[in-house]
Amino acid sequence: MLDVLGNLERTHTCGELRLGHVGEQVVLMGWVAKKRDFGVLTFIDLRDREGVTQVVMNEEDAGEAHAKAKNLRGEFVIAVKGKVIEREGTHNAKLATGDIEVHATEILILNDAKVPPFQLEVAGSENLAAEDTRLKYRYLDLRRPQLQHNIRMRAKAVAAIREYFDGRGFIEIETPILLKSTPEGARDFIVPSRIHTGKFFALPQSPQILKQLTMIAGFDKYYQIARCFRDEDLRADRQPEFTQLDMEMSFANQEMAYREIEGMFGHVFKLIGVDLPAQWPRMTYAEAMRRYGSDKPDLRFGMELVELSGELAGTDFAPFASVLEARGEIKCIVAKGKSDYSRKQLDELQDFVKRYGAGALAWIKLSDETTSSLLKALGETKIAELASTSGAEKGDLVLIVAGRKSVVRAALGALRVEVAKRENLIDRNSHKPLIVTEFPMFEHDEETDTYMAAHHPFTSPMDEDLELFKTAVNDPSQHHLLGKVRAKAYDAVIDGYECAGGSIRIHQKEIQDLNFKALGMTKESARTRFGFFLDALEYGTPPHGGFAAGIERTCMILCGTENIRDVMAFPKTASAQDLMMDSPGDVDEAQLEELGIEVSEPST
Ligand code: AMO
Repeated sequence: MLDVLGNLERTHTCGELRLGHVGEQVVLMGWVAKKRDFGVLTFIDLRDREGVTQVVMNEEDAGEAHAKAKNLRGEFVIAVKGKVIEREGTHNAKLATGDIEVHATEILILNDAKVPPFQLEVAGSENLAAEDTRLKYRYLDLRRPQLQHNIRMRAKAVAAIREYFDGRGFIEIETPILLKSTPEGARDFIVPSRIHTGKFFALPQSPQILKQLTMIAGFDKYYQIARCFRDEDLRADRQPEFTQLDMEMSFANQEMAYREIEGMFGHVFKLIGVDLPAQWPRMTYAEAMRRYGSDKPDLRFGMELVELSGELAGTDFAPFASVLEARGEIKCIVAKGKSDYSRKQLDELQDFVKRYGAGALAWIKLSDETTSSLLKALGETKIAELASTSGAEKGDLVLIVAGRKSVVRAALGALRVEVAKRENLIDRNSHKPLIVTEFPMFEHDEETDTYMAAHHPFTSPMDEDLELFKTAVNDPSQHHLLGKVRAKAYDAVIDGYECAGGSIRIHQKEIQDLNFKALGMTKESARTRFGFFLDALEYGTPPHGGFAAGIERTCMILCGTENIRDVMAFPKTASAQDLMMDSPGDVDEAQLEELGIEVSEPST
């Protein structure tokens, strides 16, 4: 028989009691985290969101409570009445409440619990049950102190963001979820309309157009904690449904946007006792790609990419000669003190770079003797020259990739991070922010020979590149110049994560028309998709710009995790499923009929 709570109220949380409470009568409520039965004495670790308190039942003084305690199992929900006593002997330094224990006089069993499908309390994350099992029973997984901490940290981060923007005169404005397509480069999730059979809403990939409309509407400074939906390939730091801090301001230039990025993240990082610099370093996209092979470089370690193409100009080693002839590049990184890498380790790294399209990974080891996979092809003198150009010293390992520029940068950029992780070169307690500027405006799709918006189609070209942009759009023979146009777009990068992205927008219709044209849209298709927005641009649009920050990515850094699901209460799996609710799932025939939808192939 379960007990009833009645009007019993708890007096303290399970994380609250200290020596100062000794002698007090208290009521605690929570979950049984652990039970140890020593015959006359039974010990319980009682857990709630604030912590754990040890409760003792002594057969002599509290026979009934002691007898009841025999029936308790893990995750039972109980109320305990009792007295706070200083622990005899050693205090538990690991517990905040470790100086005391509660000697129970009465226990109420408020609910029982089935044996959980996995153990909640384990030492070390490597001993956790399989993630799929934990996701299926997410409500149990969330009871773990680590996840409780993360989810509460997220709440604090969002509160700090609101505090920051409210304090700066920004107005929080909610925008709809049932929307028309808002391109951010992913596929839309679409929602069929019952009332307008055959028509669909799209869920926002971001509130981009709407926030621009709030500027046209004269709100001047907007922000929102906005839910976004993107049907895209998932990665460790991506979810199909995620949250952004979204902001926009009128009469803004890039520096003003950077100041808000710095101010907001500075305010949020105080939550973990970190003072980010008041002004972050800036780096152009071109420089970031050249030096780090990435537009989101992790600056917590060095190992920059070094150019070897000059050194190898005129080489008769065919693979390198053909790369240089095709205007590719040959670059390297230097792994300090790693000349002792084994064949197996090098093979692993070779496989790693191949995933990024690299044909091979060449190496030079500067041990007592210099050895290299290129020794036969290039000869000792050239190898020594390359080693010297790379800046490597005795004991170092030089890792070289040759190929198309994009491949070399992607492969070595990723290899740089991989080696740093393998060799523990990253100081996890330091945080290195950076603003990356001057992104290219377009990305070229080689297969279709078309240009896509690198950020989104509302991003303004740089003033310096405006003429180039106009020429490239208006003169079909100069179309390829689109690849050279830079945008007023920027990213905020912290520790190798793209935490925020934004831009100064196009605010003149003529330029917006040109941009849709550059993206291959006809006047008609631009009107069909964005007519309302093009109209709005003609009614006095102020210059404006802003950014959006990924709440999850920011919280990943605040919580020190590389798994985005660790900072979301109810995340989806890497294959975009909710294992707890078993969604996406089927719907009734009748529902489909009402919507006028026929499923051609039943989903399996
Ligand atoms: P962008 O697409 O760069 O810009 O997104 C802004 C930030 O949102 C986060 N983010 C994600 N987080 C988790 N899962 C995802 N699938 C995901 N996609 C993006 C990243 C990213 O930096 N409307 C523009 C912003 C603007 O121009 O103001 C936008 O959405 O941290």
